[in-house]
Amino acid sequence: MKILLLGSGAREHALARALASDPATTELVVAPGNPGTASIATNFAVNPCSSAEVVDLATQMGADLVVVGPEAPLVAGVGDAVREAGFACFGPGVEAARLEGSKAFAKEVMAAAGVPTAQAVTCATPEELAAALDRFGAPHVVKDDGLAAGKGVVVTSDRQAALAHGLACLAKEGGRVLVEDYLDGPEISLFCVCDGATVRPLAPAQDFKRLSDGDAGPNTGGMGSYTPLTWAPADIAEQVVDHIAQPVIDEMARRGTAFIGLLYCGLALTRDGLRVVEFNVRFGDPETQVVLARLTSSLPELLHAAATGRLAQVPEPTWSTDSAVDVVLAAPGYPAAAATGGVITGLSQAEAVEGVHILHAGTALDDDGALISAGGRVLSVVAVGPTVQAARERAYEAVGRIHLDGAQYRTDIAAGR
Ligand code: GLY
Repeated sequence: MKILLLGSGAREHALARALASDPATTELVVAPGNPGTASIATNFAVNPCSSAEVVDLATQMGADLVVVGPEAPLVAGVGDAVREAGFACFGPGVEAARLEGSKAFAKEVMAAAGVPTAQAVTCATPEELAAALDRFGAPHVVKDDGLAAGKGVVVTSDRQAALAHGLACLAKEGGRVLVEDYLDGPEISLFCVCDGATVRPLAPAQDFKRLSDGDAGPNTGGMGSYTPLTWAPADIAEQVVDHIAQPVIDEMARRGTAFIGLLYCGLALTRDGLRVVEFNVRFGDPETQVVLARLTSSLPELLHAAATGRLAQVPEPTWSTDSAVDVVLAAPGYPAAAATGGVITGLSQAEAVEGVHILHAGTALDDDGALISAGGRVLSVVAVGPTVQAARERAYEAVGRIHLDGAQYRTDIAAGR
């Protein structure tokens, strides 16, 4: 199978690693990729949000499958363009991608499908925003309706801060903002592979969104993750499929906008049961890094089956009994203003730790071929082990062997799990 994978983060490096290592894959091209994907696939300098460039590349290589990593190409319509050009595509079209692209749309679909989520109001004016903050009270949950690169959600007891964030969202062209009930309880990420009708859940995982230990500091794209969740109900995946993912997929099909791709269910396990915090329409980062570290069945066959409407005909994914932990190494200044260009050393020493592999995100090679930082989140240090605790110790042993001046990482990823 010839596969074209779009994206350039550690999530895509994790996907590339799982795709490249499977005998079903005969050729793997990553566009644009990063120095990590270059070592296991062919990188192509193509803009993943340009439908024309992506279709050209898929045509040139005779792709059997196009896998879209990030949300931006999906919201830009690349999934539709690729399918219209006759290629199998793992990733929803524009209309279905609105489940991530508009929080208000996601709420509307959930209401129609009877899916449990926080009560919310959508505000289009400062007056509506102020009234909603007063109505729901603290802690305030204020969400940008549109995509905001991980910076769209503010949860705070400070009404002024909540108002300021809401006003900043409203100030954008066509800006709308959601104010909603606070959901109390541990969060779970469950990825569901969908072919428009059938849903196959992957292994549940948890990520750590805040920059600093103890869930302090600003929100980030994600500073670490782990799986399995030994504390979660054993039937969590079935519950999510039955009460959330399948009803949403059925509702999207009923609307004539079938969802083909990855429905990321971001959930809170509240005292009243499971509630949806958010949907994304692509693999999560950094959860993908740990989920795929435990996958023992074929990823290319699973994604191809989804892209071609044959998910019900392939076996359920299978998992190793290992645990996996990912510690993200970020650049100094991240997330406000990441400093780039720092030299990174120690990767081979880190990968010498048993069970460890390193995934690249914001990295580049300088003119002398040295590895340097080139983005906010720089590396994902992934370790597998017989328990979460063992995997965590290995991950931190490896992190300690990597050097990047001023690098930031949390020291409490998967602690006590
Ligand atoms: N881990 C959060 C996300 O991928 O959006």
